[in-house]
Amino acid sequence: MEWNNTIIENLQWSDTIINLEGKQRVAREIAAKMKDGDVIGVGSGSTVYVAVCAMAERIKKENLRIQVIPASLELSMTCVQLGIPQTTLWDKKPDWTFDGADEVDPDMSLIKGRGGAMFKEKLLIANSQETYIIVDDSKFVDRLGSKFPVPIEVFPNALLYVEERVKSLGAVKVEMRMAKGKDGPILTENGNFVLDAWFDSIDKGMEKEIKQITGVIESGLFIGYNIKVLSI
Ligand code: A5P
Repeated sequence: MEWNNTIIENLQWSDTIINLEGKQRVAREIAAKMKDGDVIGVGSGSTVYVAVCAMAERIKKENLRIQVIPASLELSMTCVQLGIPQTTLWDKKPDWTFDGADEVDPDMSLIKGRGGAMFKEKLLIANSQETYIIVDDSKFVDRLGSKFPVPIEVFPNALLYVEERVKSLGAVKVEMRMAKGKDGPILTENGNFVLDAWFDSIDKGMEKEIKQITGVIESGLFIGYNIKVLSI
């Protein structure tokens, strides 16, 4: 039996998509990489949304057997809307993954997680032999942390402990991310808080140091990952 599924049918991307034409061009590149039978890790954010739309067109036209593992609820619902079959990390390992980013430094290290999905995004990237990160010029920075804070997903009871420890690692400002569509803090898909930590400098060991703090689920720092950056 089918749902009368108007909510998902009418779902639209929540924000204005900046640089839409550029994103659509790289989206076609991503869609062109699909091979029949691929299992693809799908990150989150507006760039990924545009790419998934291009993938759906090609899947339909060529009748491709593709399965995706999305990093967020919004991308998962988008895949339902577009008729793209989904699977899980329990069933399959991605052949490759693609995602966006908030900052990319000259060593191709990243800050991600504006959308709060960095834990599952990192899980997908860690599970993939090949990852493509799609960014426009505005995302390239000389120093990680110059435009965006480092998002840190925190088990709620550990909030103040993690704040103290992150400050002791050199964070100059640590803020709890507040929700826009509800009162109070945002809650991740795992029911946790997000702390946004601003640093004047981020060294190569920082991702591991943050991860070692009890109560930290994951951070949006991606230092030294095996990724290919596709520029819009
Ligand atoms: C989601 O949690 C993020 O990591 C996104 O991949 C990142 O914020 C890029 O988003 P846009 O593609 O919307 O710029």
